[in-house]
Amino acid sequence: MVTHKRLYDLALEAREKAYCPHSGFAVGAALLTKSGKVILGCNIENAAYGPSVCAERTAIFKAVSDGEMDFEAIAVCGAPQGQEPDSPCPPCGICRQVMSEFCDKDFPIILFDPEEGTKAYTLEELLPLSFSL
Ligand code: THU
Repeated sequence: MVTHKRLYDLALEAREKAYCPHSGFAVGAALLTKSGKVILGCNIENAAYGPSVCAERTAIFKAVSDGEMDFEAIAVCGAPQGQEPDSPCPPCGICRQVMSEFCDKDFPIILFDPEEGTKAYTLEELLPLSFSL
């Protein structure tokens, strides 16, 4: 059983691989599948900026391209490179929309919390009235 705290710690490990020479902001994500696998992702930037990809989408696209589409939870952490994350790093709007393609409304998004260590938000809390076809 992977706890929220454990998943967040894995996001911190994923963050060590962040490639962010342009923004200097390093993000890590750990995505838990319903089958119990954890898929890690980091942000990967590009000199042309536009091709850069967020940590959350790196993890989700790695998973989907490996045939995993049933997700239990995701943990995300971020801070300037070289600093320990000490505030929540909520997913950007594009990543929230990508999550809504594959995840239920009650999908937990686990972020840093100054009092509790981690705090889970649902996808619906972070993306109300989401677009779908
Ligand atoms: N970033 C993420 O990886 N995830 C987010 O949800 C927000 C932003 C990355 C993108 C870019 O490489 C850096 O953080 C600064 O925006």
